[in-house]
Amino acid sequence: MVCLGNICRSPLAEGILKSKSKNIIVDSAGTAEYHIGNKPDIRSIEIAKKYNLDISDQRARQFNTNDFNIYDKIYAMDNDNYSKIISLAENQKEIDKVDLILNESYPNQYKSVPDPYYGGEKGFENIFHLLNNACEKIIERHEKR
Ligand code: 4NP
Repeated sequence: MVCLGNICRSPLAEGILKSKSKNIIVDSAGTAEYHIGNKPDIRSIEIAKKYNLDISDQRARQFNTNDFNIYDKIYAMDNDNYSKIISLAENQKEIDKVDLILNESYPNQYKSVPDPYYGGEKGFENIFHLLNNACEKIIERHEKR
């Protein structure tokens, strides 16, 4: 799960997907380095808590090219993150691992999870539901395999 800072969107995506499956190994990262080592944004921690998830132990890290070796699937939260990740890929196999997370719930629409950082709490409620729906689709598809 990859966003820009790894403090708002991708920590929520990580927490939500982990809560839905004990079999999938889930991690998150940011394309930027601004928040390395930081806890999730308090507004993400609070919206997660509202839905009985504790994401407060997460710490931000930066996406790196070794993630292409470790993970089968890399979900970008928005089109900027997607382009940044693709620019780091070294071959088609790595490119093929990358998708926008909302393509799970809105296939082929290339929608972005809105960056909630400069907005209010409503934005966090909105992204929670967007990510929850997308993660349900991920689980459905994974269980069919
Ligand atoms: P995120 O949100 O990418 O969902 O973690 C942001 C966090 C920090 C900043 C921007 C977006 N920032 O500009 O510091």
